[in-house]
This record gives sequence, C-alpha cells and structure tokens, in this order.
Amino acid sequence: MQVDGTPYRTIWLGDDGETVEIIDQTKLPHRFEIARLETMEDAATAIKDMLVRGAPLIGATAAYGMALAARSDPSNHALSTAYNQLHATRPTAINLRWALDEMMQALSPLSPSERPARAYERAAEIADEDVEINRGIGRAGLPIIEAICAGKRPGETVNILTHCNAGWLATVDWGTATAPIYMAHEAGIPVHVWVDETRPRNQGASLTAWELGHHGVPHTVIADNTGGHLMQHGLVDMVIVGTDRTTASGDVCNKIGTYLKALAARDNAVPFYVGLPSPTIDFRVHDGVKEIPIEERSGDEVAKITGRTAAGEIETVTIIPDGSPVANYAFDVTPARLVTGLVTERGVIEPTAEAIAAAFPERVRVA
Ligand code: MRU
Repeated sequence: MQVDGTPYRTIWLGDDGETVEIIDQTKLPHRFEIARLETMEDAATAIKDMLVRGAPLIGATAAYGMALAARSDPSNHALSTAYNQLHATRPTAINLRWALDEMMQALSPLSPSERPARAYERAAEIADEDVEINRGIGRAGLPIIEAICAGKRPGETVNILTHCNAGWLATVDWGTATAPIYMAHEAGIPVHVWVDETRPRNQGASLTAWELGHHGVPHTVIADNTGGHLMQHGLVDMVIVGTDRTTASGDVCNKIGTYLKALAARDNAVPFYVGLPSPTIDFRVHDGVKEIPIEERSGDEVAKITGRTAAGEIETVTIIPDGSPVANYAFDVTPARLVTGLVTERGVIEPTAEAIAAAFPERVRVA
C-alpha cells in the first residue's frame, strides 16, 4: 500500500540484502518510523513488544528472524534455539508456529552452509505468499460487498464494521479483513467503515484509521461499545474482522471484544464475516474456547493510555485509581455458530469442519 505516494510493505530487506526493515507500529499514528532488525533477537523483540503485530505479519517476521539466525549461525543447535525463542514471543497467533515450522522444514534437510541463502529465500516466499493470499481474500470478499451495494438505492453507502487492525499493517500487504474493503473502494463502491477503537492498545483507532485514511477510505472511529447501538439502528450492513487462529471446526479467535460484536450482529441479523488466510487455520484444535491459549498482557495497557499532546509530544497517562487490580486478556473466541462465512483465499466457506477440510485438504493431511 502507499504511504504519501511511496509504496510500502510492512517488512522488507534492507539495502545490504541481509538486515530486515519494518514499520515500527508502536509509533503510529503519530510518527512513521522504520526500524531495522539485525539479529534474530531483534526480530523476537519486535514481535514481543509489538513493533510488528497481526497474525500474518508476526509469521513473516518470525520467518525473517530465522533467516537472521541462520546468517549468524546455521547449526542445528542455533536454529532450534531461534525457533524456541521466536515461538515464545506471543502465544495466540498460530501463524507464528506455522511460519517457524515452514522455515524448519526448508532448512533442516540442508547442510549448514546451504542454509542462510535458503532461509532468506523461504522467508521472502512466505512474505510474497501472504500478499497473494490476501489478494485472494479480497477477490473472494468483494462480491459480498457488491451484493450488499446492489440491494441499496444508487449511491447509498455500504457500512462495514471492523474490530482491531486486520489491515495491511497486520499482514505483509492488503490485510485480510480490509482486502475486500480496499478492492470495493477501488471499484468505486461507496464504502464507509466503522472502526472500533479496540482498547486496550487501540489498534483500530491508531492503525486501522491511519491506513484507511491514507488510502482515502471513508471511516469513523467509534468507542468499542458502539457497534450494538449502530446495528440496532440499521447503520451496519456487515461486520468483517481478522483472526489470530481459527480452529478446524471454524471457531474464530481474534482481538478481545470480537465475540461481543458477533453476538450483537447475530441479534440484529447483520452478517458477520472473517477474513481467514489458510496459515491461520490450526487443524490441531477443534474447540476454540477450551483449546486456544489466550495471551494475557501487562495490566499497564489497560491502566494507561498513550496519545499526542497539542504540542506534538507522545505522552502516556494513567486512567485508573492507584492500586486497582487490572486484567488484560488480549483475545477471545467467537464460536463458529455466530460466523456467517469465512472469507479465504479459496473463496467464502461455511464455518464448519467439513467445509474447511474440503477447501484445504493438503493442510488437513499434514496437521
Ligand atoms: O494483538 P494484535 O494487534 O497482534 O492483534 C491483531 C488481531 O487481533 C488481528 O485481528 C488478527 O491478527 C488478524 S490480522 C490480519
């Protein structure tokens, strides 16, 4: 996607062809800064501290982290240490393990001297594959928006609600939930996006609003609890969100608060879609509520809020009384029964074990 006329992905190789560059997402929307990853440890820190975030981008960064590890020491011991260190960064997004497994599969059969070149090659393939997958999700999801538009009066806006950031910043490019939206906007369909702020880290307010704004997509940032009210008043035509891990049976784990949006959508007969790239399917788990590990993050994210002062300084302030205990669950699970459709790179499919297995038979066999 473009930022002020310059095309960007979220991760790329530096001019030396070995170090890795990323957009530091902790600085957005206030500053657009590039960070350089020189070591596997840098990649692990970037994921853990959320300079990069979003399931597909976490996977791509981990893949490049393995390449950085192979460049410094391609031995079996060093690679398995890198795998473990990168894997320990964040527990919920399954793309992390998927990408690490892909890298290990590519590198293990090779001699140490062959590994660095192949590691960079495979990491680049994973990044490119992500872009193509998201393009496929966009193509599959576009007809949903076209159909909603066709049912409206000419020129009437299609209102889409999304939660968190499943946009191009969360992937290598295009985004998952946003890919159909960007394509609809480019096709001239009048879309408008309700952007949930997404407390506690505000990925909606900080990141989704930033990227939609840079792409010229009309949008409105709303407090997290607004969606139900909007749906009751006919102001939401569809919901589309991303996912960090979707089970073999179609339960969808995504940013905390997604489940409440799905409940409100069901109560108001608003279709609830999920942009689902196939590396985000975990064929080893079936019951999302019982089996998916939910990341618990620092209470500071709930107790404090960061913003820009009128003087342009970035400031963090505390918003709760001293001493009040805080809990910070980062994700929740929306049961498959509340999902209208999974928008995948192979089309829109039902959230059932049968439909998911039929769409991705090669993935079922290896799980
Ligand atoms: O904690 P984050 O910012 O990594 O959470 C991101 C999300 O929940 C996204 O919706 C999800 O990763 C899908 S990204 C295409």
